[in-house]
Amino acid sequence: MRVPAKVNLALNVGATDNEGYHALGTLFQAVSLFDDLVARPAEAGVFRVSFRGEGASGLPTDDTNLVVRAARLLAGTCGTGNLGAEIRVHKRIPVAGGMAGGSADAAATLVACNQLWGTGLDTGQLHAVAARLGADVPFLLHGGTAVGTGRGEKLRPVPVRGSFQWVLALSHHGLSTPAVFREFDRISPPQPTGIDSGLLEALADGDARRVGALLRNDLQRAAFNLQPELADVLAMGREAGAAGALVSGSGPTIAFLAGTPAVADAISDRLALSSRVRAVRRAHGPVPGARIVN
Ligand code: C5P
Repeated sequence: MRVPAKVNLALNVGATDNEGYHALGTLFQAVSLFDDLVARPAEAGVFRVSFRGEGASGLPTDDTNLVVRAARLLAGTCGTGNLGAEIRVHKRIPVAGGMAGGSADAAATLVACNQLWGTGLDTGQLHAVAARLGADVPFLLHGGTAVGTGRGEKLRPVPVRGSFQWVLALSHHGLSTPAVFREFDRISPPQPTGIDSGLLEALADGDARRVGALLRNDLQRAAFNLQPELADVLAMGREAGAAGALVSGSGPTIAFLAGTPAVADAISDRLALSSRVRAVRRAHGPVPGARIVN
């Protein structure tokens, strides 16, 4: 099972509901930075996860882990009581990076366990289970490029011409999504959540320059307040020729859109020199969501 990361080309943050969740208008794109996941049978009621790769050592593997919660929730939904799974994840998506790594693993777990157990949920039913696990989980089931509304779980695919080149600057430290939303609430009123029609047109035209100029993330200033060095990283990639740049989701990963492979090389080379950047990754999007691969 292979599942991609996401970037948000727009992340428009509106008012909170009575559970403290924000109304969002977001434009997701799945990008070619993948976690791999394998699910094997286990005794009834046993749900175990182990991780290797990027950031693996810091991850909890108890019942709070989103992979374990996803497997349990699916088993409970289909519930004969005799289901169990042993899940291994090879991580490449940065942990606490704003690229939905945990949500991606949860989406992959749903698809993998649905196959392993022969539970036969269709796409719509998986989507409903995914939405209970987190706002980004449904998108990682589908992948591609999509507008997300509600809490981000109501999806509408949008047409994209060609492929977009991304350079991703990974940070030394993670950011907590709730902490970034809290900082947003402290410094900003709710924002309009409608997605810019010019951005959708530029995507449909495959025009990286126009897309780059219209990237928007309402959480960016909050992420900069919590990790001030991110502003310097963003400026560096812009100087190296990025068509656009923004904090990915709640950060701290910064996503740079490159108009050409040569510009992507220049941005990567520049970022690799900076002590503020832990690692640089290249990716392209859109790519499909959680998929069985052999
Ligand atoms: O949905 P998920 O569990 O991924 O969200 C993590 C946190 O992000 C939530 O606990 C909440 O603090 C914040 N969030 C929000 N509004 C959303 C989505 C997430 O405030 N629409």
